[in-house]
Amino acid sequence: MSEFDQYAPSYDEILRDPLRDTFSSGSAFFHRRKWELIQSFFADRGGDTSNMDWLDVGCGQGELLGLGAPHFRTAMGCDPSNKMLANGAGDAIEVRLQSQLGDLPFPNQSFDFVTAVCVYHHVHGQDRQALSQSIHRVLRPGGVFCMIEHNPWNPATRMIVRRCPVDVDAELMSAPLAKRLMQAGRLRPVRTSNFLFLPEGIYKHLPKIEKVFAKVPAGGQYAVFGIKHDF
Ligand SMILES: C[S@@+](CC[C@H](N)C(=O)[O-])C[C@H]1O[C@@H](n2cnc3c(N)ncnc32)[C@H](O)[C@@H]1O
Repeated sequence: MSEFDQYAPSYDEILRDPLRDTFSSGSAFFHRRKWELIQSFFADRGGDTSNMDWLDVGCGQGELLGLGAPHFRTAMGCDPSNKMLANGAGDAIEVRLQSQLGDLPFPNQSFDFVTAVCVYHHVHGQDRQALSQSIHRVLRPGGVFCMIEHNPWNPATRMIVRRCPVDVDAELMSAPLAKRLMQAGRLRPVRTSNFLFLPEGIYKHLPKIEKVFAKVPAGGQYAVFGIKHDF
């Protein structure tokens, strides 16, 4: 039994929090913002995702995959929790059960792009390093890894995490720590984007403001993009 199996039956309900609900009317906004960041990363680098194979590690219910899959050649997910996968990810997109916390159920060099969204703060001790090495293993030369995490330097994020039952075991990582972890996993960080500064109601009128603050390490979450540079 995986840790998240116990949360899966009422996952969306468990995530609800008065502060989170003030920021956005639902989880869809948070998934959409992540997808926008990914799109903007590839647009800025001139990368054509329609020629790429994407793996979302710890995909959970697969909402991000659902948004991004049409833009990739293939999109797949994996997760140690069968019950999280059963909530939706598997309906339209191929997903695999990950039976070992530190090893991904895919052959070497299978993907051009790998994401892990809000996964690493649930991974502890040696498993963090092992997971990063496995991500390096499944990436093709020059492939991109994107890690998205809660920002421990944002007080609202810390409060929401402290109150959320799903995060009872959470060990938050700052962006500098995430970058060091990537480097230890032989991935070269090339961009850090801070986001979730503005609540949904303001963001929809002023989306460009978030870009202005992208280098300020104070948003609700951050994304670190790294490249597999040694083969
Ligand atoms: C907070 S949920 C995030 C799910 C999804 N990525 C999202 O953004 O909605 C964390 C997910 O990470 C998965 N997870 C926990 N440990 C993991 C590990 N070592 N490798 C891969 N996934 C893991 C859990 O089963 C869970 O589905």
